[in-house]
Amino acid sequence: MALLRMRFKFVVTVMMVNFFIFILISRHSNQDKNGNHKVQIPSKPFWHKLAPFLAYYNRQQQILDLQNNPILTANSSGADMPDWLNDTSLASDPCLPNYRVTTQVKDYNSLPGRFKDFLLYMHCRSYPIMKDQTDICKEPPFLLLAVKSLAPHFDRRQAIRQSWGRAGVIANQTVVTIFLLGNATPGDHHPDLSEMLSHENARHKDLIQWNFRDSFFNLTVKEVLFLEWIQNRCSGARFIFKGDDDVFVNTYRILDFLKGLSEPQARDLFVGDVITNAGPHRDKRVKYFIPESMYVGMYPPYAGGGGYLYSGDIAARLHNASQQVVLYPIDDVYTGMCLRKIGLAPEKHKGFRTFNIEEKYRSNPCAYKSLILVHPRTPQEMIQIWAWLSSPDLTCQ
Ligand SMILES: *[C@@H]1O[C@H](CO)[C@@H](O)[C@H](O)[C@H]1NC(C)=O
Ligand SMILES: *[C@@H]1O[C@H](CO)[C@@H](O)[C@H](O)[C@H]1NC(C)=O
Ligand SMILES: *[C@@H]1O[C@H](CO)[C@@H](O)[C@H](O)[C@H]1NC(C)=O
Ligand SMILES: *[C@@H]1O[C@H](CO)[C@@H](O)[C@H](O)[C@H]1NC(C)=O
Ligand SMILES: *[C@@H]1O[C@H](CO)[C@@H](O)[C@H](O)[C@H]1NC(C)=O
Repeated sequence: MALLRMRFKFVVTVMMVNFFIFILISRHSNQDKNGNHKVQIPSKPFWHKLAPFLAYYNRQQQILDLQNNPILTANSSGADMPDWLNDTSLASDPCLPNYRVTTQVKDYNSLPGRFKDFLLYMHCRSYPIMKDQTDICKEPPFLLLAVKSLAPHFDRRQAIRQSWGRAGVIANQTVVTIFLLGNATPGDHHPDLSEMLSHENARHKDLIQWNFRDSFFNLTVKEVLFLEWIQNRCSGARFIFKGDDDVFVNTYRILDFLKGLSEPQARDLFVGDVITNAGPHRDKRVKYFIPESMYVGMYPPYAGGGGYLYSGDIAARLHNASQQVVLYPIDDVYTGMCLRKIGLAPEKHKGFRTFNIEEKYRSNPCAYKSLILVHPRTPQEMIQIWAWLSSPDLTCQ
């Protein structure tokens, strides 16, 4: 009975809103030749019945959207909502495995293990921080370089420190470099690298590490924790570059590009190698495969995760938006979703070459002069290219 009454209240509210819109539209009706009012009646109802998505991700996002909808939530504590809206799986601690997904995702049992791992922990966004640099932005940097790395990649981090990630003052601007790490867990048969990491961190003081399993599908967790970290530790950074540890970044070119921006351009800056009109891969063999039971629809425009550049202002807005976007297993798509939430789209910049440059130019120093990012590059190549670009003898027409 109580349920029926709640549904009735909900239906009545929707009908009243409909009627109000009808009055508004009627007032704008056309006049015919004789000056009489001709009321235009829509041929089809334009208010769709609220039905839950079948794809799990879409449904979770739909629930979050409705819960955050100020009109729907203004005068009800969720009690007037359709009952499936209360199916949030968030009953208790979101960081405990949510075994309800095993029945809510129809082909759960036949999905590859990484999906099961992702789905069970999809609602958890807080993991303890193990290594932090609380004072690294005491002097707010002009540019923060944040590099997604994995614990065993010591050589890549060292090459970055000795080349494009050299922290300090470059071209008169302060640059701070940090490395973002999760945990290389024994469950994935990683050797115990904790002592080596502690040694590295004591020496360089540039590791940020959280205690979650560092896997491809958890890169979104890394993104969300990083957005929060910026607000807590580095909210004064003017610009942020976030990228992988197998890219070469022309830091000189970034600083030069940033210097040329006008104030409004700088405030809303988000540039990279932008992918538009993409959707989920349905081929099981592809790394980016996403089953239909998980997600339907297109992706918003997004900048490839190899590296993108944005303003500190946008970082704050993204941090806010991320709280209203359900975690998606592909981190760069997720960032695109958050950007869409704040009404922005990333901008394509020709200097971001996440798909490399033509082979014949790769050993030509001048080819890198006007580029911002090239992927992929080994540690040795990073050091070589940086030496070319730093040489006062380099002349290119
Ligand atoms: C919302 O509920 C409160 C108390 O139940 C009531 O005083 C108020 O008029 C309601 N507002 C609207 C817009 O219905
Ligand atoms: C949602 O459902 C649970 C039980 O399944 C109930 O305890 C809770 O009060 C419900 N919440 C709302 C907002 O209806
Ligand atoms: C750095 O700043 C100094 C003084 O402020 C100026 O003379 C110099 O030209 C600047 N160098 C660059 C590369 O902008
Ligand atoms: C993400 O990290 C958590 C915490 O370590 C782990 O339980 C979960 O399985 C990981 N998810 C994936 C997809 O690896
Ligand atoms: C983030 O959200 C809080 C609370 O809703 C708001 O006060 C703040 O202005 C928002 N910040 C940005 C940058 O949008």
